[in-house]
Amino acid sequence: MDIESKISFRLKNLGEYVFFGVAEAKKQALNSGKDVIDLGGGNPDLAPHPKIVETLKKEADDPENHRHPVYEGLPELRKAVARWMKRRFDVDPDPDSEVLILLGSKEGLALVSWAFLDPRDVALVPDPAYPPFKRGVMLAGGKPVLVPLLKKNRWLPDFDEIKREDVSEAKLLFLNYPNNPTGALADREFLQRAVDFAKENEIIICQDMAYSEITFDGIKSESILTVDGAKDCSLEFFSFSKTFGMTGWRLGFVVGNKKLIDALKQVEVNVHSGAFHLLQKAACVALSLEEKEIDVARLTYQQRRDILVKGLKELGWEVEAPKGGIFVWAKIPYRMDSKNMANLLIEKAGVVTTPGVGLGPSGEGYLRFSLIVDEVRLKKVVDRLKSLKL
Ligand SMILES: Cc1ncc(COP(=O)(O)O)c(C=O)c1O
Repeated sequence: MDIESKISFRLKNLGEYVFFGVAEAKKQALNSGKDVIDLGGGNPDLAPHPKIVETLKKEADDPENHRHPVYEGLPELRKAVARWMKRRFDVDPDPDSEVLILLGSKEGLALVSWAFLDPRDVALVPDPAYPPFKRGVMLAGGKPVLVPLLKKNRWLPDFDEIKREDVSEAKLLFLNYPNNPTGALADREFLQRAVDFAKENEIIICQDMAYSEITFDGIKSESILTVDGAKDCSLEFFSFSKTFGMTGWRLGFVVGNKKLIDALKQVEVNVHSGAFHLLQKAACVALSLEEKEIDVARLTYQQRRDILVKGLKELGWEVEAPKGGIFVWAKIPYRMDSKNMANLLIEKAGVVTTPGVGLGPSGEGYLRFSLIVDEVRLKKVVDRLKSLKL
């Protein structure tokens, strides 16, 4: 059988997932015996708080926790989410109808397109961006329309620049602040503008807050749900991966409009059967941590940021200190495209980064460095870049 001919166009059209390409180049470097420093992915190296892990171990002894999970998430975790949203943002969601537990925010962000897009429906997707927004739209048969994030606009989309016909056909708008890869934050003024735009044009906002708690210099991220009218049209996605170092657990949640949550839930229940209860019980502990316990992670990423940004600047790279997230978005100071630059860094310096173009065409000319190794290794990255004669 010609299996190739059986593969759906949806899948074929996706092309290579940028992180596979990076992983392959890294494998080759490792095979050649290089000491590889991997700043390619978004996989945090900080361990979860001991209280979270202790709860996980204790709950493993309870046979009830090994039974089939509750589809939409344990009531106690949904209540913990609602309490956390109140404490952190002064948003008061109903835990039964306005909160849904996800198997990582990625899963929700990809499946949300299945809930709202019919074939060829438009979704407005930031460029550059976390790839599952666009790829989720494509897998659902929808049409992604890229909205460039440019430095001159503080890496925020300019809604006036989107073609009228795309706006009128759009059903979804993806946003992500604190932003991967640019490190930008969204202020209230922008969030209000986004909600006004969405309401005026009947578009659903999917705001990705995976990095909600990883912000620097004392600035805090704001929830879009605090903005006038947002509850009519918005879903806000959160992750346990980055704030709490629980990446491998695959746990996240989404908060927002009841009807939107319900539609996403309908897709979820048909695709998976809920998150393992042990994880959900330990996640309740994560959400009860005090701010000062989360400050440890914030400060760690901030110190790493400062080392890398200073080092890159000294080497002539054009780079802004990110305000949040775990990435540094740096303009390549040589006449080289981002794929070639990333390959050269792996080959000659043993440093893995993400080529900006892999995150969208507007990312060409940039590299993304992840802050996922300790300060000693980051200093080594700067030293290795220094010794490259380019
Ligand atoms: C912007 C953004 N959103 C979502 C995710 C996915 O996070 P999770 O581990 O919750 O699926 C990531 C992970 O890298 C990310 O960078």
